Amino acid sequence: MADISLDTQMGNFKFTNPILNAAGVRDADSTQLNTIINSWAGGVVTKSATMKPREGNPEPRMKGLPHGCINSMGLPNHGIDYYLDYAIKNEGKNNKQVILSIAGLSIDENIQLLKKIQDSDYQGLVEMNLSCPNIDGETQIAYDFDSVEAILNQAFEFFTKPLGIKLPPYLDFYQFDSIAKVLNKYPITYVNAINTIGNGLVVNPETEQTLIKPKGGFGGISGEYIKPTALANVRALRLRLNPEIKIIGTGGIHTGEDVFEHILCGADAVQIGTYFGFDDTPVFEKVTKELLAIMARKGYTSLDDFRGKLKVLD
Ligand code: DHB
Repeated sequence: MADISLDTQMGNFKFTNPILNAAGVRDADSTQLNTIINSWAGGVVTKSATMKPREGNPEPRMKGLPHGCINSMGLPNHGIDYYLDYAIKNEGKNNKQVILSIAGLSIDENIQLLKKIQDSDYQGLVEMNLSCPNIDGETQIAYDFDSVEAILNQAFEFFTKPLGIKLPPYLDFYQFDSIAKVLNKYPITYVNAINTIGNGLVVNPETEQTLIKPKGGFGGISGEYIKPTALANVRALRLRLNPEIKIIGTGGIHTGEDVFEHILCGADAVQIGTYFGFDDTPVFEKVTKELLAIMARKGYTSLDDFRGKLKVLD
């Protein structure tokens, strides 16, 4: 399979494997991040940072489910200074790009985070998460298209570094049209679709309780449950976004076939969250080898051979 290339590119950033970790899973400190850099993952994404360190929500705040997970972590993280320092020191190490994830709790905090990054020596990719569902009293910014426009307007007045946007799942064509119209006005490097399906509720019928404590038991749903929604978002956005805006597909990936489907729908790279949580770094090797086997069987030698080439029934 030596003649098969998994090379992919977003902006000026080259990856030799499109399979990355998703923000928020096993990526909260330098030990965990180094483990990712030293694995088969094609790059390393840091836990979404806020301006100040946060403890996050009360526990239990995450529970595994038969086919995925529910979580309401509440952004426990070491703060932007920690991750920015890590990103600057480790950019390009082991031939892997760092993606620095940020998640301000407000429009203002996101702008402050971007200003800090702009004023730093970091030259790598930044992923601005506009879709965290787990902060009590806060809405997911990217469900309000005017807020997305406001934030990007302010951001691109000063921000000159490569910026990706992490989006929530959209469920209606009006939403696909509206978000694409806003995003297409800006020099965004990529969008990441999708975050968890926010504010699901899983109950234990025996104890008659919720599974997790924060927000009355409501939390983000991930894993296999969300793959069809993730594929729909990748596909719908690929059909609407300017070709310069690349797409990271995230949601329900735990096999090479899942990656293949995401790329067929238009993804340039993919991220694994829930199953990285379940299986740790071996998931990257397993899924990469499975993808290579599918490509070999089909006679494909590069991702371009099938990226976005999903066939619809006439
Ligand atoms: C958290 C969850 C998310 O889905 C996200 O995008 C950011 C943060 C969290 O609860 O920590």
